[in-house]
Amino acid sequence: MTATTERVAFSSQVDEWPHSVFPTGWFQLGWLDDLQPGEVKPLRLFSRELVQFRTAGGDVHVLDAHCGHMGANIGHGGWVEGECVVCPFHGWQWGGDGINRYVPAEDRAIDRRRQRSWPVTVTNGIVWIWHDAQGREPQWQPHATQPEFGRDDYYPLKPHCTRHYPDAVARPQYLVENNSDVEHLRWVHGTKSPVRLVDQVEDGPYMETTISLTYGYGKKSTKFTPDGPVETFLLSSTQGVGANMVRYPLDGTITFYCCTPIDDKLAHLYQTLLVRREGGTGDEPSGLAGARVRELIAQFANDFPIWAHQIYITKSPLTRDEAKPMGTLRRWAKQFYA
Ligand code: FES
Ligand SMILES: [Fe+2]
Repeated sequence: MTATTERVAFSSQVDEWPHSVFPTGWFQLGWLDDLQPGEVKPLRLFSRELVQFRTAGGDVHVLDAHCGHMGANIGHGGWVEGECVVCPFHGWQWGGDGINRYVPAEDRAIDRRRQRSWPVTVTNGIVWIWHDAQGREPQWQPHATQPEFGRDDYYPLKPHCTRHYPDAVARPQYLVENNSDVEHLRWVHGTKSPVRLVDQVEDGPYMETTISLTYGYGKKSTKFTPDGPVETFLLSSTQGVGANMVRYPLDGTITFYCCTPIDDKLAHLYQTLLVRREGGTGDEPSGLAGARVRELIAQFANDFPIWAHQIYITKSPLTRDEAKPMGTLRRWAKQFYA
């Protein structure tokens, strides 16, 4: 008998995540309606303590939380006065740009002291914060406000069309890897129909992915496909690794899936659904629209246990079909950790 020597590679069982910095990009900070003018909120993101506040005029700002005077955390006990946030320790006032505007004990500003100010913007009712691994100003824009946002024939986001999962275990990149990993749709999301990655287009910090699949596959009729199976597309549009927008052309639904790091392990996961009204004027999606919302929320949650316990394998033995899209995705994603 001839001895055969087969080369077998064992998984190292060790997380091989290769990056030591949080990725650069826009990350969701919740929704605009969460914070009313005059409110202050402490945040912990990117392993840093931050303070978010909304001025009397309605602008949203984020500063490093520890006051440049003696280090009190402004997020705990601070308040808004006009367009400034006030530190609860000695009353110093800071503008949204991080510049000191007033020191009560001297009745003047001491503007050689600055708080770091984090770029913030709002689109689609979502508040975005810019994190840059190199400390630069924003290098691109988050998803533009979609024409459907705020339209009468769509449900309002609050209170039924958003979900927030604080303290999840996930890396932002896992969300966008999902777009190019069509095989997991069968296993994690129960997709029965053949699924095909039709297109994957890179454009700097953006990536567009088109997946074809058949709703109601193999069934005479379902509640979503009363007239029999319908071939359709999922159009994913990613900016950076923190935010992914998926369009479902069949019923006009748009969903944002976002992941914002808290620290090396934990993250906030957010889901925002723009869903076309199904008759009526109430805020709660009903009928098929309600079923659609429940389905999409349940499907997002199906990914969580995988992400929570997954280790990253840098040289995954990708299958024939995975090699190109996953290879492209992972190569594209490297730009965010420079
Ligand atoms: S520590 Fe903030 S005002 Fe003194
Ligand atoms: Fe998934």
